[in-house]
Amino acid sequence: MKVTVILGTRPEIIKMAPVIRELEGRGKDYFILHTGQHYSYNLDRVFFERLKLRRAKYNLEVGSGSAGEQTARILVGVEKVLQQENPDVVLVEGDTTSVLAGALSAVQLHIKVGHVEAGLRSYDRDMPEEINRILIDHCADYLFAPTGKAKTILLGEGIPESKIFVTGNTIVDAVYQNRQIARESGDTIGNLGLKSGKYFLVTLHRPGNVDNPVRFASILEGLNKVAAEFGVPIVYPIHPRSRKMMTEFNLKPRKITLIEPVDFLDFLQLESNARLILTDSGGVQEESCILGVPCVTLRDNTERPETIEVGANILAGASPEKILECSKAMLGKKNSWENPFVDGKAARRIVDIIEREVEQ
Ligand code: UD1
Ligand code: UDP
Repeated sequence: MKVTVILGTRPEIIKMAPVIRELEGRGKDYFILHTGQHYSYNLDRVFFERLKLRRAKYNLEVGSGSAGEQTARILVGVEKVLQQENPDVVLVEGDTTSVLAGALSAVQLHIKVGHVEAGLRSYDRDMPEEINRILIDHCADYLFAPTGKAKTILLGEGIPESKIFVTGNTIVDAVYQNRQIARESGDTIGNLGLKSGKYFLVTLHRPGNVDNPVRFASILEGLNKVAAEFGVPIVYPIHPRSRKMMTEFNLKPRKITLIEPVDFLDFLQLESNARLILTDSGGVQEESCILGVPCVTLRDNTERPETIEVGANILAGASPEKILECSKAMLGKKNSWENPFVDGKAARRIVDIIEREVEQ
């Protein structure tokens, strides 16, 4: 069995890392095809280095551009590589442009596709990722649903049960595999002048939030209110999209410390020691839930409703008052929820399934 792992952005590298480790550990014939959607060192190479992943055999270097441009370049590049390599199965993870284009290329060549983290829905079609999720799930052959809820969603869309496998989410594997290493890897918190449990962590990068000057300014105002109310530092490792938009809109956050994006080990440290996390990231909502840190989601909806149901997360949207109110509510709660994303053995299950299904 020959496996191609297609990835292109930060969250895909992090969530695919446990699957890559599993393939490596079992001595499987596999290679990584990187689309190059993310290319800055701190969104890309740093993760390969710190998570000790095999380097990509191919990098299409598609870079930034409109969704259409990126999709087209990835389709052309992936098709060439797949025709040359002729793998038995392609694995993709998540919902980015790279994932959609990678899956589509493979399907058009009649190569089996496994979709890791299938069945997530925000029901918000303004998000490019929502369209991607639907299309990817409907062209995949093996759908690795992280939770029973995701499986129910897929069944509801008419996907045959025989294609769906509830595996847990590989982010749990990634957190468990790296939490201890992160603790031992240096004093990230101290180096930033922070104290455990005495700061809040922010990430914000969705176009719906940061490409709109009014909404971006409103969220920053909400964060200022939170900083003023609780008197703690707020740290924001800022995504390059957000940095660019902040400059373009001339927004100057007053009470927030902006830092460059950090690697996963440093970020795990920042998350686990934070008193509160405020984010619009999908992965960060999951990680805060797994790590037992309360989360305020700076969006109007989420494709991770499990985090809200267990009491780890709340939707605040973009209004300053609501952001403050939700922060107070989450800080007043006990952090004793169950992790809904299963046990940290998702990657093992995924590789077991492809061995069984593809090698038979
Ligand atoms: C993409 C994904 C999003 C995911 C995010 C993870 C899509 C549609 N969006 O959003 O789902 O949550 O990645 O972080 O696939 N840039 C750099 N360096 C890079 C990459 C990007 O500076 O390595 C800057 C460029 O100015 C670029 C902008 O960030 O135009 C946006 O990059 P892009 O890859 O289009 O989307 P993301 O916002 O990163
Ligand atoms: N992350 C990181 N460094 C940072 C910010 C985030 O390593 O400075 C990690 C985080 O732990 C999570 C992933 O990036 O696993 C989430 O990626 P992002 O928020 O870019 O995308 P999303 O999950 O929203 O698609």
